[in-house]
Amino acid sequence: MCGIVGFTGKQSAAPILLEGLSRLEYRGYDSAGLAVRDGTKNVEVVKAKGRLKGLAQKTDQGRAIAGSCGIGHTRWATHGEPSEENAHPHCSDDFNVVGVHNGIIENYQELKDKLRKKGYTFQSSTDTEVAIKLIDYYYKKYEGTPVDAINHSLIRIRGSYALAIMFKDYPGEIYVARKDSPMILGVENGESYLASDVPAILKYTRTVYYIGNLEMARLRPGEITFYNLDGDEITKEPVQIQWDAQAAEKAGFEHFMMKEIHEQPKAIADTLHSAVKDGRIDLSNLGLSEDRVRAVTGIHIVACGSAYHAGVAAQYVIEDLAKIPVRVELASEFRYRKPLLSPTDLVILISQSGETADTLAALRESKELGVPTLAIVNVVGSSIAREADSVFYTLAGPEIAVATTKAYSAQLIACYLLAMGFAQIRGYLHEEECSRMLSCLEALPDQILRLLDDRERIQWFASKFSNAKDIFFLGRGLDYAISLEGSLKMKEISYIHSEAYAAGELKHGTISLIEDGVLVVGMLTQQELYEKMISNMVEVKSRGAYLMGLTTCGNYSIEDTADFTVYIPKTDPHFAASLAVVPLQLMAYYVSLAKGLDVDKPRNLAKSVTVE
Ligand code: G6P
Repeated sequence: MCGIVGFTGKQSAAPILLEGLSRLEYRGYDSAGLAVRDGTKNVEVVKAKGRLKGLAQKTDQGRAIAGSCGIGHTRWATHGEPSEENAHPHCSDDFNVVGVHNGIIENYQELKDKLRKKGYTFQSSTDTEVAIKLIDYYYKKYEGTPVDAINHSLIRIRGSYALAIMFKDYPGEIYVARKDSPMILGVENGESYLASDVPAILKYTRTVYYIGNLEMARLRPGEITFYNLDGDEITKEPVQIQWDAQAAEKAGFEHFMMKEIHEQPKAIADTLHSAVKDGRIDLSNLGLSEDRVRAVTGIHIVACGSAYHAGVAAQYVIEDLAKIPVRVELASEFRYRKPLLSPTDLVILISQSGETADTLAALRESKELGVPTLAIVNVVGSSIAREADSVFYTLAGPEIAVATTKAYSAQLIACYLLAMGFAQIRGYLHEEECSRMLSCLEALPDQILRLLDDRERIQWFASKFSNAKDIFFLGRGLDYAISLEGSLKMKEISYIHSEAYAAGELKHGTISLIEDGVLVVGMLTQQELYEKMISNMVEVKSRGAYLMGLTTCGNYSIEDTADFTVYIPKTDPHFAASLAVVPLQLMAYYVSLAKGLDVDKPRNLAKSVTVE
């Protein structure tokens, strides 16, 4: 969702901005633009609708624009259609203030009316143009510094923002402000950078600063000064990013998604080893005392998208192992539901980016209600990671493809470990059984490698169904959780309508959608539900469905029913999702590929949904 970059230093800014924006493409966007200052009062603004290559062509890869201070933006439309007018940067009429914005200004209409009365006119339908003109208004009204002008504006603005702004009178400087939208700042070799996310500046610096909510900063070449909302200077310590720059490259794969699918064994092993010491689960880093874990009366797992699906799987595993009642909820529902939480509950937020607006709001709501919060997050230093009472970091490394794969897999591992750790503390999981389960977890990376070896067969099958209109995924229990994720992967990147159903619900409606040739993917990894699932599959087959069965090695009788079968290696049934999801990811990938779609950047979707 909207990407922001900024640079001020000695080098030419435009190529650096374009390069940075290309690293943020994964966030999702439909237009792009940049503004560059050449050290004088002049500013050059170039925008293009559509993909970044349009902007690169217009600016001769940035070479056509002189100047060493600039800001850039990829826009994911919220207010106003995708168009050149609505693309950022936006400027005040006299180019006094030029800025880019990620977020939503909720009271923009009210502010727009106020500014209109003061003589401002508007060229776009965006909320951003209103924010930029408001800053211009206060800058001129109080004749103060840029920080004063931004300050005054922030007090009037309701909503979320990461703003990067240049002022005519301050060449070589960029001002930023942030509330609830991600932004990081970096310094290296006498030059300064800003971006929505680490990959955009990783090539140039690993020393970054996280700017807090309602804080501002001034970037000069090689120097960043931070301010609080009162305009007072504040100090911040830099953080060293450990990610390897290559981790954010495609490393010979055609798409990030395929690369990330292949990185799952490592993501799983790294996450596992971060919480298993000398063969024992060690959750001491989480700051949850054993007494607290024993006293937990209920767990609420709150998340969005695939992270929610990891939560659905976790619900089965935690309840079964640790005997704690678990409720899983979509963050967008939880935050407005006035949830009934007790101080002995635990709220677990799951998020790859750590910036999803609804999940962040749910976290804040839980904290306000005085309930302990634990975040399972991938991006170090993200808002959710910083605000939760404790954090379990998934070690999946940077994930670029919009459709998550390795982060989801790492989330599952974190959930299993919590379930097992809690179960041990509460006396439901004994040493021996725990070691057996840990050895199953240890085996997952190699088992996934074996599944990946089977990709050509899945590619062949996927190409047969690339023109499908509908696909249904059916499962019971944990297999239902896997179905949800398999279906989401498919629809996200193939644009084929797909649905996941709890197989037992089939007769309550879904079966009416089954007709000749419709692909139904049945998940059968849970042995005690195997026979029941076979019955459901026979029911759809007798109505014409084409059946793919996904089950554990050994269940060969499935071939009597399914038209195409994929086997996963044997594991503890609690962990089957970690294996079963891999063929489903591959299938979605190959369908998308066969249709010639943009696998890594599916239409209308954003990697990180930082607005409601
Ligand atoms: C978007 C992404 C999904 C992701 C979801 C939640 O929809 O496309 O892949 O699962 O957001 O994101 P989070 O960063 O909170 O895990």
